[in-house]
Amino acid sequence: MQLRVTSLPGDGIGPEVISQAICVLEEVAAGFGHDLELDEKEIGGVALAKFGNPLPDSTIQACLASQAVLLGAVGSPAFDHKPRELRPEAGLLRLRQELGAFANLRPAVFYPALAACSPLREEIVKGTDILIVRELLGGLYFGQPRSIAGEPGARQAINTMSYGEPEIERIARVAFQLAQTRRRRLLSVDKSNVLECSRLWREVVTRLARDFPDVQLSHMYVDSAAMALVLKPVGFDVILTENMFGDVLSDQAGGIVGSLGLLASASIGGPVGLYEPVHGSAPDIAGQGIANPLGAILSVALMLRHTFHLLKEAECVEAGVISTLMGGFRTRDLARPGERTVSTEEMGAQITEFVRLAAIANNQAAS
Ligand code: IPM
Ligand code: MG
Repeated sequence: MQLRVTSLPGDGIGPEVISQAICVLEEVAAGFGHDLELDEKEIGGVALAKFGNPLPDSTIQACLASQAVLLGAVGSPAFDHKPRELRPEAGLLRLRQELGAFANLRPAVFYPALAACSPLREEIVKGTDILIVRELLGGLYFGQPRSIAGEPGARQAINTMSYGEPEIERIARVAFQLAQTRRRRLLSVDKSNVLECSRLWREVVTRLARDFPDVQLSHMYVDSAAMALVLKPVGFDVILTENMFGDVLSDQAGGIVGSLGLLASASIGGPVGLYEPVHGSAPDIAGQGIANPLGAILSVALMLRHTFHLLKEAECVEAGVISTLMGGFRTRDLARPGERTVSTEEMGAQITEFVRLAAIANNQAAS
């Protein structure tokens, strides 16, 4: 199978984690007999520095001409004082829009090998397997009007939360369908006791539930969902929520399972899928070779599954991550005091080697 992928390493630790994710992807292609065509482009701060634009046309064109995009991270303190359009984040938000990627899937899974990493007691966190389905192209992130205006000292800032019925329905449909492939429980998270957007959200989701009688739908306000998530994370299966709530709850879910560095994401719904770790550019540790590449590597697994429908290959990458963790390999974010740590590259190499051996075994079994 032909795999046309654009990689956008971006800023901070992005290039380090993406280079490991690409080693894994190349090994999958070589081992399982796929033809990988890779193109690398700029996004975020690196694109701003080179082109004065966080998402140059050349990047958009390359992404739209490929089947999937693998992104590292965007964000750099060098641009903190710049206007919104000239910040690295603006590049990512526009890319999501250009790709029509309205459905952001963020799995948060507890790995028994990492029991000691979670701040929660093992008996609380054990068995946690959550899929957050975050609406990605609406709400406060994109609503108009938005501005900061007025005289210094008396300025006024405005953001707009806005959701249309079709927008709610299309993301809810994705969430219901995903729930059907899992434990068939869907929790819709909103703030319908205060916000009009949330009232409409709840109404539309409730209406759509009739099309999915096999899925058990429930609703929760976002504040109590945040509390329930730490008190009883095993109580969750699929969480459906709007853009901003999903941004917050997914970082929280990362903390619960032990490290945000573990979380991968898939942004789908448009013609080209976008895959990226949930963590940011972490400028404080960039360039030191200590970042955790697992979020990026697991994003490759999501790409294999959701864009290319290569389930065996996706499972192989995920098995490589589990086996590497069981083998005791820990990047700094996962290590307890006194535990030996490995570099970004060593962690990536372990998984690449696992994939190499698994592919050989697979090919021997097939012949
Ligand atoms: C995320 C990030 C982004 C977001 C930023 C970098 C724009 O926090 O993917 O969760 O807020 O969506
Ligand atoms: Mg975020």
